Amino acid sequence: MNQQVGASQSSSVDGPRYLIPENEYDYGHPEVVFWTNYFMNEAQKLNVFANIKATIESKRSRLAAETMANAWYDFSCYVPVFITKAVAQTDDPERQHHLIQIAYDELGGRDKSLIHSKLFLDAIAGIGISVSARPSGASVKDVLRVLDQILVGTKGQYGIVGLLLSFEIIAQENIETVYDCLSYNDASRESLSATPFFKIHRADETEHIRHSIANFLRFCKTEAQREEFRKSFDDGLYFWHRFWDQCARMINVAASLSPRAPEGKKISLHAAEQDSHRYAAAEVRGVDGLIASKG
Ligand SMILES: [Fe+2]
Repeated sequence: MNQQVGASQSSSVDGPRYLIPENEYDYGHPEVVFWTNYFMNEAQKLNVFANIKATIESKRSRLAAETMANAWYDFSCYVPVFITKAVAQTDDPERQHHLIQIAYDELGGRDKSLIHSKLFLDAIAGIGISVSARPSGASVKDVLRVLDQILVGTKGQYGIVGLLLSFEIIAQENIETVYDCLSYNDASRESLSATPFFKIHRADETEHIRHSIANFLRFCKTEAQREEFRKSFDDGLYFWHRFWDQCARMINVAASLSPRAPEGKKISLHAAEQDSHRYAAAEVRGVDGLIASKG
């Protein structure tokens, strides 16, 4: 069964997809349009893709694709874990109902063959890549722990809604960046485009964003609630900055360890491993400071 039919509800046969029936904040609602543009523009200002875009332009290779595949697989497995943890910190059943929907979608809805992390493995298998531990020992898991710390430090109910919007707001560019990093030649680019993973994400990220904006409008009504929401939204964007910088770093480290790297550019495995952990530790300190600054 097609995910569009099996796991979702649509307003009409040809209309846009909705995770759950929406009576108020549909795609055409003026506040949905306004706030989607507003939060997308706010996210854009941080330029979180600057390093990864420059890196992939100069380091595009099968090795870079393998490195990206490992990072995105770790992230993909973490997505439903993060959302369900956020929902577990939510005290109202109606908010829980709305906030859990994207996790349910990520886990395939009613069809386990559509679990997104598994679709991702299928997509990379088609270009001859599988996930495995990196020779440098580097991964994004330390950066994902940073996001866990941000969540644990988010005590307010409206902050949780804000953190979940930040998780989705750059989803379309995330997917296109993953696609670009995995496309190490024309054949892989073509193969990836045809996979259910990329087809579903290209079609569905818009709904994840609209759904999260609707949650903001539905649950954050007062100035104080919106202020709390906004603070956590900013904290979540901080995570994305670190995530993409770590991916760029991992690709650079992998390239420098490669036998094909120019002599002067090679670094030792030990140095690369230390560098990666030092970077992750700095990230954790950064978030400690960020959480402490919340007072
Ligand atoms: Fe997904």
